[in-house]
Amino acid sequence: MSDASLQPTESNATTQEQQPPLLKLVNVTRRFGGLVAVDNLSLSLRPGEILGVIGPNGAGKSTMVNLVSGFATPNTGAILYQGLEISRLPANRRNHLGIARTFQLTQPFKGLDVRENVMIGAFFGRHKMTRQQALRKADAVLEQVNLTHKAHFKGDQLTVADRKRLEMARALATDPQLLLLDEVMAGLTPIEIEQAVELIREINRSGITVLVIEHVVRAIMSLSDRVLVLHHGRKIAEDTPAEVLSDPRVIEAYLGERYARQRKSKHINDENIDVGL
Ligand SMILES: Nc1ncnc2c1ncn2[C@@H]1O[C@H](COP(=O)(O)OP(=O)(O)OP(=O)(O)O)[C@@H](O)[C@H]1O
Ligand SMILES: [Mg+2]
Repeated sequence: MSDASLQPTESNATTQEQQPPLLKLVNVTRRFGGLVAVDNLSLSLRPGEILGVIGPNGAGKSTMVNLVSGFATPNTGAILYQGLEISRLPANRRNHLGIARTFQLTQPFKGLDVRENVMIGAFFGRHKMTRQQALRKADAVLEQVNLTHKAHFKGDQLTVADRKRLEMARALATDPQLLLLDEVMAGLTPIEIEQAVELIREINRSGITVLVIEHVVRAIMSLSDRVLVLHHGRKIAEDTPAEVLSDPRVIEAYLGERYARQRKSKHINDENIDVGL
């Protein structure tokens, strides 16, 4: 990865702090039988920000995305979007309000090509569209994610990186204000990760607020204005990337003892950490 492209962007936190939250979770809990997947979680997401979410496997990250996007409902607590309580709205209603998500396991519609997959996103998205308008939207989004040259490929002919791009394209085609990205860099090569980071920055610069879940720590640290750390469904840290990286609770729960030992024994430049868990 070239260091230049993974440098932190200048934070626009000051202006963001003055705005009311776009998304707010208030004491949200989701249980599966005896297991508490998301445990009394509260958080706010400001318009225009990139919030990174990290945590070990099973920490509740995808469940959190499911709760916000309408693929799960909380047992207790409230989810507010632009001040509106959405906790029990179906997923398509939330999508029409401007919330879109990708799936950790990519699921393109079988039998349809890339362009048709993206068109469906446009068709059922925030704005009513004719077939022609949906086609134009799909083509514009494919251009944005650099998939135009594979527009007529079927889902199963795509590389992992392209499938992740298709996931993002389908979400973008719905014209979201809030984009929830669940591990869109998993399985990518370092160069593909660099490209994905750049694409997410570009999406954010176009005015879309982003919540990004990722295990590629270096990428998440360079992308995010703030980072939230989940462990056993609970928030154990929420701070700037630099603060989170040096938080002993985060090191112990997620970044690992090996990293903690390395940090003690020699000076490590945080920008060069690559904990590809
Ligand atoms: N539909 C479900 N039914 C039962 N248990 C579930 C369900 N969805 C999630 N879980 C459990 O909830 C916990 C949190 O899962 P979740 O998928 O949110 O974790 P995650 O942080 O996304 O993990 P990963 O990094 O592996 O993707 C896990 O123990 C998981 O097995
Ligand atoms: Mg997950």
